Amino acid sequence: MSLPKTVKKCLFPVAGYGTRFLPATKSMPKEMLPIVNKPLIQYAAEEAMEAGVTKMGFITGRGKRAIADYFDNNYELEHEIAGSKKAENLNDINNVMDSGQFIFMRQREMLGLGHAILTGEPIIGNEPFAVILADDLCVAPRDGSDTPRAMAQLIELYNQYQCCIVAIEEVPKSDTGSYGIISGEEIEPGIYDVSDMIEKPKPEDAPTNMAIIGRYVLTPQIFDYLRQTKPGANGEVQITDALKQVAREERVIAVKFAGQRFDCGSIPGFVEATNYFYEHEFKAQ
Ligand code: UTP
Repeated sequence: MSLPKTVKKCLFPVAGYGTRFLPATKSMPKEMLPIVNKPLIQYAAEEAMEAGVTKMGFITGRGKRAIADYFDNNYELEHEIAGSKKAENLNDINNVMDSGQFIFMRQREMLGLGHAILTGEPIIGNEPFAVILADDLCVAPRDGSDTPRAMAQLIELYNQYQCCIVAIEEVPKSDTGSYGIISGEEIEPGIYDVSDMIEKPKPEDAPTNMAIIGRYVLTPQIFDYLRQTKPGANGEVQITDALKQVAREERVIAVKFAGQRFDCGSIPGFVEATNYFYEHEFKAQ
């Protein structure tokens, strides 16, 4: 059976503990932290929607019920504010809820991002799919063009190459230990045929400074690779290790996407994103 030609499903792995945001994340999911007045997970769902995704699968864990509630009605609240100006504050999230289907699965043990993606196999089946890590918040370039956010750019490349696609960004060499790092041949400006990948290398072991950020398009073959992947860095099943095998046996393309990414999994990145959105979106409303 041939695969669907484009991407209609997206997984959002949101099961991590978010320890860098303790104590806030002791009893609330990191993905519900707001940048100004909108939680990270909503920015992620909006980016997927913009890219044409209609089925959104969330890989959650214990203590993450607030995410499922967020994509559901809240009749009492809606009744209280109906007909007032306040009701408009729900327009964006209502629009997201009306535009797709939302499916929730639990990762029972936090065995890593690769394991979280494998947990989503029943949602995806035999189709290419997107993966968005909501703590990497991506915005479109502010150059007056109508270039969309990162995921739509990745799906456009998937449509062209029909293989796994990862988004990359150049990071300071001193930061390579926080990322999966790729090496490969540049086949078009900013587009690389990946030959190797390494998860969280020390700066002296990193082949380049091109880091994978939280946007992927994967083919369903990745599930077989993940099943064969042994726990790697931090004792977790790493998606980078599975993709490294795909790069060796099939093909992985990496793209320096247009736009900007904020690392909202870290406190400095979170503050930077808050300032950006306050300045460019909130004040402009
Ligand atoms: P991180 O490495 O950022 O971990 O996970 P974390 O738990 O979210 O945050 P810190 O480092 O403790 O502060 C990268 C992404 O993978 C997901 C996380 O939810 C996050 O989106 N993840 C990680 C899972 O869904 N399951 C896992 O077992 C591990």
